[in-house]
Amino acid sequence: MSFLRLESLTKRYGTANAVEDLSLDIAQGEFVSLLGPSGCGKTTTLQMIAGFVEPTRGRILMNGDDITARKPNQRGIGIVFQSYALFPHMTVAENVRFGLEMRQVPVDECHRRVAEALELVRLDHLDDRYPRELSGGQRQRVALARALVIKPPLLLLDEPLSNLDAKLRENMQIELRAIQQQVGTTTLMVTHDQSEALSLSDRVVVMNQGRVVQVDDPFNAYERPNDTFVSSFVGKTNLLAGDIGSVQDGNASITLGDYTLEMPFAGDLHSNRIQLSIRPEKLELTDSDNGHLQGKVRTRLFLGNHWLYQIDSSAGELLVTLPNLGPTDFTVGDEVGVRWQPGAVRILEEQAHG
Ligand SMILES: Nc1ncnc2c1ncn2[C@@H]1O[C@H](COP(=O)(O)OP(=O)(O)O)[C@@H](O)[C@H]1O
Ligand SMILES: [Mg+2]
Repeated sequence: MSFLRLESLTKRYGTANAVEDLSLDIAQGEFVSLLGPSGCGKTTTLQMIAGFVEPTRGRILMNGDDITARKPNQRGIGIVFQSYALFPHMTVAENVRFGLEMRQVPVDECHRRVAEALELVRLDHLDDRYPRELSGGQRQRVALARALVIKPPLLLLDEPLSNLDAKLRENMQIELRAIQQQVGTTTLMVTHDQSEALSLSDRVVVMNQGRVVQVDDPFNAYERPNDTFVSSFVGKTNLLAGDIGSVQDGNASITLGDYTLEMPFAGDLHSNRIQLSIRPEKLELTDSDNGHLQGKVRTRLFLGNHWLYQIDSSAGELLVTLPNLGPTDFTVGDEVGVRWQPGAVRILEEQAHG
């Protein structure tokens, strides 16, 4: 049973479609992310759900009620904006209390709920500070407490962590997930950061140019991307062209550079050229006699926890990441082999029909 239902949501500005025919069901308590590049329609979608932007077409249902025409303050939704939008002249506690006062919650209860919300985000010791006296991460947590204190049935987060530096962002991701699980609020988060979407969400909705291109759990969105867009937006990948020689009993023999691989193939064959995707971390380097593909090291970068290699191979340029398990044997100019385990190569369906 879906808690939030979006039916063919569409927003047109002039002749441009910011969001096109977006349908989605979110279950009670679920954490869902809208993931896509800048300008793909994420914020517009969130603003339509919040009631700040009127859809050109489509409906929004919450708990079975059509809320499409309701004013924002009649929807009871909690929102954390990208900019946090804290009131600068109010203390932390006053910022958090504001929504309760607007709802005319009795003073005693206000007091208790503000204290609870601040404890939840671990800011109870800073309740009389002003926003300018807080770090970015602390402000972010005030914004979260302010949204959660009204006990919203639905929480909307618009790139809530994008203003934080990398280390703090990672900590906040862990905290945000813990808080969401503790409170159990159905949450829809917008982000352009794939690792954030993967690490926080129960499901990821990948968007491109106003449209949903894949809805999946994080593991599948990464491991089984539908097309070239998802495959390169959700993580790094190598996109390679292969030639299908023959298809027999659901198995294809595919030529990739100087190697021929056999793999299951269920699609229709419209062209012999197909697009393949292999993640950099699924490739291994060997001496040149033991690889599937022959190649030569063009560059390598040391990135702390791993090495990033650029290999000129018989199938084209390949990125290979190797975990940093100690000094590596392969250096610039070396002839190497490139191998992978069965199942590491994925055929991108879209291209198979192209
Ligand atoms: N008020 C507006 N008027 C005209 N175009 C808009 C307006 N708001 C957003 N857009 C356009 O709609 C598209 C989607 O924007 P947005 O939802 O903000 O993307 P995202 O949040 O994914 O970066 C963009 O091309 C943007 O320029
Ligand atoms: Mg946006």
